[in-house]
Amino acid sequence: LMNDSEVTPFSVPGYACQRRCTLENHNAVLTDALSLLAENAELSDEDGRGVAFRRAAAVLKALPSAVTNMSQLTGLPCLGGHSLRVIKVSGWVSFAVLQVLTGIFGVGSKTADRWIREGIHNLQQLRDSGQTLNRAQQAGLEHYDDIKQPVSLAEAEAIRGIVGRAVASVSPEAQIVLTGGFRRGKLTGHDVDFLITHPEEGSEVGLMPKLVSWLESRVSCHLQNVLLICDVIFLLMFALFCRFSLCCFIDKQTRRWRAVRVDLVVSPISQFAFALLGWTGSKLFERELRRWAGHEKGMSLSSHALYDNKQGRYIRASSEEEIFAHLGLEFIPPNERNA
Ligand code: CTP
Ligand code: MN
Ligand code: MN
Ligand code: MN
Repeated sequence: LMNDSEVTPFSVPGYACQRRCTLENHNAVLTDALSLLAENAELSDEDGRGVAFRRAAAVLKALPSAVTNMSQLTGLPCLGGHSLRVIKVSGWVSFAVLQVLTGIFGVGSKTADRWIREGIHNLQQLRDSGQTLNRAQQAGLEHYDDIKQPVSLAEAEAIRGIVGRAVASVSPEAQIVLTGGFRRGKLTGHDVDFLITHPEEGSEVGLMPKLVSWLESRVSCHLQNVLLICDVIFLLMFALFCRFSLCCFIDKQTRRWRAVRVDLVVSPISQFAFALLGWTGSKLFERELRRWAGHEKGMSLSSHALYDNKQGRYIRASSEEEIFAHLGLEFIPPNERNA
């Protein structure tokens, strides 16, 4: 360890949305541990503690080099007592079990918790238990290994080709954008996220069911030398806003089919910029944007709108740049939102 006199303390601004954070991470060992603790906290419904760990990890991710001395961290924001002190996590066993069960598509921590209390601790026990599973959970269990396996950029682009053609045939003027981690420059993801809109306000209504039946009616199609089988097996989760998660099978190089999670969101054009910003992530970057908007600007930001609490009115925006400007923030491009 270096002498304290030689140590240059790091300095980073307090909000993740004020920082530029690429995918390069000089402190992966530390941030992996903190992310694990965050996940653990979130699985036990301790969101506050989870966020604290995520913020701490994000601060370390934004550092220009590896931490070599604890004293470099003095004065950094978001590194509270827990993050600095907690090294060991108790309850690893139940954490591991929860991770397996909540890793099944369609299974949340509540369901997993109930199963654990009923003595189900792994996938085989779940299969043998005769538990009633909904359609999503059945598929999630059946394709557990596939869905766990990361999606590559090539696969994401291939799926974009299919969904793009589906969108074009049900609504020729509609537009589709790849959002989520891939828009931020990630080379792999746990799913593929798309945002769909139509240049004419209102014409996006009814697009999702049409799109889904088009996809369901397809058996296969060829694209870029990769055999793609688009067999939509289910849809679920009608969230507030036409949000679907669905699963399709694609071939990975060989003739093997695999399941991939695809998230589709439809947005009216008037809300498109907010949806694009909101669905690009990262999750922490989004949370910090909303915290900045609320605490520093007296505004409420969602993936639908920006509301000025003092003036009592909605603020329009037709691009991400405009939203950053309304928030008094320097524009940060997608590949630098990897907080
Ligand atoms: N999101 C959301 N509401 C959800 C799920 C996700 O608003 N119920 C947003 C997240 O805040 C994030 C974006 O959708 O901004 C993408 O989420 P997700 O696919 O979970 O994460 P990625 O960043 O794409 O990471 P990965 O590559 O692992 O998919
Ligand atoms: Mn994603
Ligand atoms: Mn997603
Ligand atoms: Mn919403």
